[in-house]
Amino acid sequence: MVRSRTALRFDHSSSPRPDRGLLAFICRSLAALVRLGPAAYPGGVTLSLQTDRLLIRDWEEDDADAALEIYGSPDVAPWLSPAIDKVTDVATMRLILQAWIEAQPNFVPPAGRWAITRRDDGEVVGGLLIRLLPPYEEDLEIGWQLRPSAWGNGYATEASRALMRWAFKDGSTDELFAVARPNNKRAIATAARLGMVWVGETDKYYDLTLQVYRIRAAEFTS
Ligand SMILES: CC(C)(COP(=O)(O)OP(=O)(O)OC[C@H]1O[C@@H](n2cnc3c(N)ncnc32)[C@H](O)[C@@H]1OP(=O)(O)O)[C@@H](O)C(=O)NCCC(=O)NCCS
Repeated sequence: MVRSRTALRFDHSSSPRPDRGLLAFICRSLAALVRLGPAAYPGGVTLSLQTDRLLIRDWEEDDADAALEIYGSPDVAPWLSPAIDKVTDVATMRLILQAWIEAQPNFVPPAGRWAITRRDDGEVVGGLLIRLLPPYEEDLEIGWQLRPSAWGNGYATEASRALMRWAFKDGSTDELFAVARPNNKRAIATAARLGMVWVGETDKYYDLTLQVYRIRAAEFTS
């Protein structure tokens, strides 16, 4: 069966143009503070998920150097959505982390942003997120980013699987989506490894043309 490329399309003429500036990246993170309302991880509860090789934990300001290897990488930044310029220096990365850390308690679980660290040496190897997709903020996206030196070890798959297991655990999340640029072969391969299924191509998120993958809670096998 041929699935329609336009199944997920809608008139996005009123959608804002993507803002590529780092300032916008920081502002979007701060906006989460305002938009998401009262604390949803009450009492400062933090997430700590362990897998065989990895620990998924909240970001810390002191992760700035390691985070720059991810979000400052020319091999990572161009693939992210919304479109951003790569982060250019540690001071800016620290500001972005501060914004993420301040926003975190206001996200409604399972939304949030986390660092992926390697258990045997404590190194930050990547980032993970779950967030509401614009413009309607009804669908939850899971996203993963690894520093290039950590690619090819299955870390994104291992961390995302643990995060999915946690997200689906209480039964309140029915499905998670992943979005990827059409030529982002590595991200698409990771989605497939996670058991995510292609559901279409769309322009409705971030004013980018993106391939959309989905996994339903009922289909998830850890
Ligand atoms: C997308 C991205 C996270 C994928 O990284 P990755 O390391 O290929 O991801 P995976 O965790 O799925 O690892 C799979 C690779 O590890 C290998 N591997 C080794 N041990 C493994 C294990 N135990 N389990 C699974 N795979 C393993 C696989 O064979 C595969 O290698 P290959 O690509 O050479 O075939 C990374 O390319 C990235 O950060 N890209 C930029 C950001 C981005 O595009 N994010 C997605 C959109 S938000």
